[in-house]
Amino acid sequence: MIRRQFLAHALRAAVASAAASMGARGAFAQHAGHDMDDMPGMEGMGDMHDMHNMAGMPGMSSPAAQPAASALASPNALPAGAPLAPLRKLANESGDPGTFRATLVAQPVSRQLMPGKQTSFWLYGDAAKGPIIGPLIEVHEEDTVEIRFVNRLPQPSTVHWHGLPVPPDQDGNPSDPVAPGESRVYRFTLPRGSAGTYWYHPHPHTMSAGQVYRGLAGPIIVRAADDPLAAWPERHLFFTDLKLAADGAVAPNDLMDWMNGREGQFVLVNGARQPRIVVARDERWRVWNGCNARYLRLSLGVSYPFAQVGTDGGLLGDARDGLTELLLAPGERAELIVRAGQWPSQTALTAAVYDRRKMAMTTGNMHGSLTPDPARVLADVRFAPAGAAAGAAPTSHALPSPLRPIEALQPPAGVVATQKSVVFSEEMDMAAMHRPDATMSEMPAGMKFMINGATFDASRIALTSRRGDIEHWSIENRTDMDHPFHLHGTQFQIIEREREGKKMPEPFLAWRDTVNVRPGETVRIATVQKMPGERMFHCHILEHEDLGMMATLKVV
Ligand code: C2O
Ligand code: CU
Ligand code: CU
Repeated sequence: MIRRQFLAHALRAAVASAAASMGARGAFAQHAGHDMDDMPGMEGMGDMHDMHNMAGMPGMSSPAAQPAASALASPNALPAGAPLAPLRKLANESGDPGTFRATLVAQPVSRQLMPGKQTSFWLYGDAAKGPIIGPLIEVHEEDTVEIRFVNRLPQPSTVHWHGLPVPPDQDGNPSDPVAPGESRVYRFTLPRGSAGTYWYHPHPHTMSAGQVYRGLAGPIIVRAADDPLAAWPERHLFFTDLKLAADGAVAPNDLMDWMNGREGQFVLVNGARQPRIVVARDERWRVWNGCNARYLRLSLGVSYPFAQVGTDGGLLGDARDGLTELLLAPGERAELIVRAGQWPSQTALTAAVYDRRKMAMTTGNMHGSLTPDPARVLADVRFAPAGAAAGAAPTSHALPSPLRPIEALQPPAGVVATQKSVVFSEEMDMAAMHRPDATMSEMPAGMKFMINGATFDASRIALTSRRGDIEHWSIENRTDMDHPFHLHGTQFQIIEREREGKKMPEPFLAWRDTVNVRPGETVRIATVQKMPGERMFHCHILEHEDLGMMATLKVV
């Protein structure tokens, strides 16, 4: 806990000097929920224009335009209870089978979500109607995908195809930005075996968090010709996080957002607050955590167990049935089977309490973490099994077993897997926080989230892999909070997790591109890269990524 105390003092000093230099007045109310109120002398502090200015993204807004976080919209300000909206779909402009061709425009779009207030989002497509998330890109294994990306944002951007095995120069790396007003074509062919649930989002360095929280993120489904669950009705739930000011503007990040990752007062499902879902038959759900930083420990309640049939990279070998919760870290996806049951009933889809050890700004006592957020309802779910009214129990599909064969990723006999080590660490630099200009920079100075001892440097290759080599990576979290590790360009398998000296072999085989790493934990994965070029790996709390918790893997 020494680090946390150190941080607390450093931040308090920075806050105090910002306040002093400003002659700020007012209340620091927005941080009441962040334990600021137990800091001596914190009540009655300024409205902290500097703190907000510090958090603004490049070229985004003048200090005057930054709303005080105390002026956030109420958590009930968005209407709830509408039927779950289906996703918008990106239209295929190609007539040839085997080719998916489309145009994806990133642009500012003004929409009214809060009654009487306009919110200016950044969205893919004009999104005049329909969910305020990117359109679903639905493609098939072996398709050639050609997407022209048009950047109508005031900032450079890229489109990253999170989880897909696309060539490095087509993957929207931060080194390949598309300037405002420019466009480019992303082109790739999806290999066999790539069926799964993916997503796309911008990846420009230092600007990913801001672009995603303004609305730029969308779902991808890659379908297989031989999908064993093809007959099941599908439902798509794309979770995003939204933080709105009382005037309807998307609020900028504050210091706590940068430190812990941004969590707004709203969690949306397909762009709407707490929608209503009616389940009449057994369904296959695809769920995406498209939030900047929010962890979703999904549950339908203990009386409503569900099955998990897929992870990021597609189906499991065998269904994991009888689950009452599933943790979805930022960036992760899953496929679930939700059964309609025998009789009408209702429940809530909730994000149960999960303690990801968010850091507090305290006076340096032993209380170093925020209390975890309370459970929150994501959607109302009503089970209305078809036929129940007539007294006839509906037929329930049996899940095929296996769903598909998955083999352990292992080097050929006699070959030892190359070992690689990734270490997450953090450092709070007091000197930087005390610099007079610290609060004027675009991101908070002095807050460092690192990989292998360094923050991101575009000119540095952190690790090098040989194409085709099956490698074992250990990802060790030496910080005090959870971080979701994500590796581009491939799907990996978890071998084991180790914490407090205890090794826990992963109980099932699954393909993933994102895995949560708890404080003090080491996760070991088996992975292989198939194409030469540069790949990113990073924490998928997007604020941490932007602060530099990202590195480059060069594949030769
Ligand atoms: Cu979804 Cu490099 O990210
Ligand atoms: Cu990615
Ligand atoms: Cu992180």
